[in-house]
Amino acid sequence: MEALKGVRILDMTHVQAGPTCSQLLAWMGADVIKFENPAGDATRGQLRDVPKADSLYFTMLNCNKRSITVNMKNEEGKQVFIDLLKKCDIIMENFGPGVLDRFGFTWEKIHEINPKIVMGSIKGFGSTGPYAEFKAYENVAQAMGGAMSTTGVPDGPPFVTGAQIGDSGTGLHLAIGLLAALRQAERTGQGQYVEVAMMDGVMNLCRVKFRDHQRLTRGDMPEYSVPTYKDMGDVPRAGNDSGGGQLGNAIHCKPHGANDWLYIVVQEAVWDALARRIGPEIHIPDLATDARFATIGERRKNQQLMWTLINKFAENYTKRELMAILNPLDVPCGPIMSTQDLATDEHVRGRDMWVELDHPQRGKWWNVGMPIKLSASPAVIKRSPTLGEHTDEILQEVLGYPKDRISALRGSGAFSLPPKKAA
Ligand SMILES: CC(C)(COP(=O)(O)OP(=O)(O)OC[C@H]1O[C@@H](n2cnc3c(N)ncnc32)[C@H](O)[C@@H]1OP(=O)(O)O)[C@@H](O)C(=O)NCCC(=O)NCCS
Repeated sequence: MEALKGVRILDMTHVQAGPTCSQLLAWMGADVIKFENPAGDATRGQLRDVPKADSLYFTMLNCNKRSITVNMKNEEGKQVFIDLLKKCDIIMENFGPGVLDRFGFTWEKIHEINPKIVMGSIKGFGSTGPYAEFKAYENVAQAMGGAMSTTGVPDGPPFVTGAQIGDSGTGLHLAIGLLAALRQAERTGQGQYVEVAMMDGVMNLCRVKFRDHQRLTRGDMPEYSVPTYKDMGDVPRAGNDSGGGQLGNAIHCKPHGANDWLYIVVQEAVWDALARRIGPEIHIPDLATDARFATIGERRKNQQLMWTLINKFAENYTKRELMAILNPLDVPCGPIMSTQDLATDEHVRGRDMWVELDHPQRGKWWNVGMPIKLSASPAVIKRSPTLGEHTDEILQEVLGYPKDRISALRGSGAFSLPPKKAA
C-alpha cells in the first residue's frame, strides 16, 4: 500500500515550486487533483519541443496527478471548488500574492469550510514583511536568499546554481510542513496554514554560509582559497572550495573538455596515501613528508600549490581513470557528470532515477525518478495528465455529481474560459 493512500490533495499549484511538492506527494500515493485554470498551467505551453504537446517543463513536474479545469471567476466554478475543499485533506497553491484572497478564499474562509484541511502556500517572500507583495521566480529567490552572492569565482559576477533550490527546494520544504501538519490534523481534527517563502528556503539551504558570516566576526577562514580577514563582512564567493572542514576542489582531467573534471576531497586521513601515490609521478617522491603539506594547517596555507600538484598528476588520466586510482586510497571523489553522462549511467538506471514514460501527445519521454525510496511503498511513476483529462471523473467519483448536473455546469462555463469579446 502506498504511504499516503487515502490522502486527497487539491493542488492549485503551477510552474515549478508547488508542482515539485505535489508530484512527490503523488509518488508517495496521495490522490493529487491538479485544479487548473481552464487556460492550463502556463508551463504546458512553455519551452515546447513537440508542437501542440504538453511541454517537458509540465510533464516532468506533474506525474501521477489527475487534472480538472475549473473557472474560479465563475460562480458555479467556485461552488465546485467549495465542494472539493470539503473532500480533501490538503489544499496547496503558489499563486502570486493575494490571488486566492481575490477569489474570496482567504485561509480563514477555507478553514471555516473544512476545519480539518491543511493549507500549503508558497510565496516568494511570505505573507508578512516589506517584500510580501512581490512575485518571485527561481533566480530571484537565489539572488535574495544568499545563494548568488556566495556562488561563482571570487573575482567574477555572482552566479545562479543549476539545482533549482528556489523552486524545487521550496517545494521540498513545503512537503515536510504539509506532512507534519497532516499528522497534527489527524490527531486534533484541526488543520493549519503552512507557508514557505522561497527566500527563507534558500537561506535555509545556505545555512553554512551564515556559519561563515559569523566566523568572520572573529577572524579569517583559512580553508577558503581566497583571502579572508576579520570583519570583512560579506562571505566571499569561493569557486569550487569544499566549504567544509576538509579541503576540496575540482581537478581538470584528460582530455580537458568542459566536463572532464573530478571533484576531490583531500580528507585529513587520506593525505599520506594520496601523497605517496601522486608524489613519484610528479617528481616529488617525498611529497608525503614535505613540510609544506605536513599538517592540515599547512595544507590550508599552501592549498593553491597542493591543487596545482594534483592537477599536474591528473593531466595523464581521464576523470574515470583518476577516480579508479583514488577510490582504493579511500579519497572521497566524484566525476563532474554531464546530463548525458547521467541519462546513460548504469547506476542511475539501476536506481530508477531516469524513467521512460509514454504520453498520448508526445510519445516516449523520460523523467527523473523518485529520489525518496520507501521500502514498503516504492513509487510507481505514471505520466502527467492532459488538460482537464479527469474533469468528469473527479466530478462523478469524488463529488458524486450526476451527469445532467455536470452538463449544466459545463453549459454555464464552470470549466472553461469565457469566449474572448470581439474588439
Ligand atoms: C510564479 C508567479 C510569478 C507567476 O505570476 P503570474 O503568472 O502573474 O500568476 P499569478 O499567480 O500571480 O496569477 C495567476 C492568475 O491566474 C488566475 N487563475 C488562476 N487559477 C484560476 C482559475 N482556476 N480560474 C480562473 N483564473 C485563475 C488568477 O486569478 C490570476 O489572475 P489575476 O491576477 O487576474 O487574478 C506567481 O504565481 C508567484 O509569485 N507565485 C509565488 C512564488 C512562486 O511560487 N514562484 C515560483 C514559481 S516556480
